[in-house]
Amino acid sequence: MKFAGISLKDEHVPVMAPFVVALFSKFYGGRFADLTVGQGGHSFWILKSLKPSYLACVDRDASALDYAKSRLSDYSSVTNYFHIKFSEIKKMDGENVFDGILADLGMSDMQLKSDRGFSYKNNSPLDMKMDASQEKSLKSVLSESSLDKLCEILSLSGRRDGTKAIAKAIFEKRDNIKTTEDLVEIVRKKGIRHDAAKRLSRVFQSFRIEVNDEIGELSGLLETIPQMLKPGARFIIISYHSVEDTIVKNKMIEWEKEKIAKRFFRRVVKPSKEEKLKNKKSRSAHLRCAEFCT
Ligand SMILES: C[S@@+](CC[C@H](N)C(=O)[O-])C[C@H]1O[C@@H](n2cnc3c(N)ncnc32)[C@H](O)[C@@H]1O
Repeated sequence: MKFAGISLKDEHVPVMAPFVVALFSKFYGGRFADLTVGQGGHSFWILKSLKPSYLACVDRDASALDYAKSRLSDYSSVTNYFHIKFSEIKKMDGENVFDGILADLGMSDMQLKSDRGFSYKNNSPLDMKMDASQEKSLKSVLSESSLDKLCEILSLSGRRDGTKAIAKAIFEKRDNIKTTEDLVEIVRKKGIRHDAAKRLSRVFQSFRIEVNDEIGELSGLLETIPQMLKPGARFIIISYHSVEDTIVKNKMIEWEKEKIAKRFFRRVVKPSKEEKLKNKKSRSAHLRCAEFCT
């Protein structure tokens, strides 16, 4: 199957890409920003299908920007790259300048597969930094957090049974945690065997959210977005867990009440069964779109 000349069999198909392009299609030739360029997947679809006059590509991870820059080199005349995080996007391009802005939250496959500590499947240093130059790391979080703080962190991707016991085990053994494998061992011992993988991915997701202040970044981004869009422009955001999706939903309801923007769909949009089967990462995706008032 092909969409806008792009095969859906392509190796890295970004989450709900045809849908994102369709939502932006009324701005063919317009000005866009991809605030999470990652491997350049969505940006490539936007560039190829919508022929923008300008695309701002943002990522807090310098290695992602390098990768995307080389992947999208055919489009260098209309792209500009920004090594900044959401809380710094005011530095970018001025006010009310975009027709469409996309944010595809979380981490990229490249980050997951790296040796930077994002995955419980690779033994890596206690890093987890999206931006290599930031100070906070998994190591500093583990060594500086109290037991209460660890409980709070482990609830960041949703509170569940066993959170306290895992936090206590990590707290008591933290001096012995030198690599991600040591952390995995502690969590495995506290989990029921059949749900160990789920538990491990939640623990790693929670620490990643804390190390990179992802909730603070998201909240800050939602404050800035209305100042960046032209009247009638659209903002699309894809999140990967319910805590983030609730923050997005509540902000969009607030925008609607204040007549700043309308929710394009009242309900969250999820990928098709077919996409979920093909692309494991898409399974937890929640897409929301707001259209700014004219
Ligand atoms: C899910 S990936 C994006 C994948 C991309 N849409 C693609 O198709 O290749 C998320 C990216 O957002 C970046 N990111 C996460 N939080 C960020 C923030 N607060 N500011 C800037 N970039 C951020 C990550 O470094 C990562 O590269």
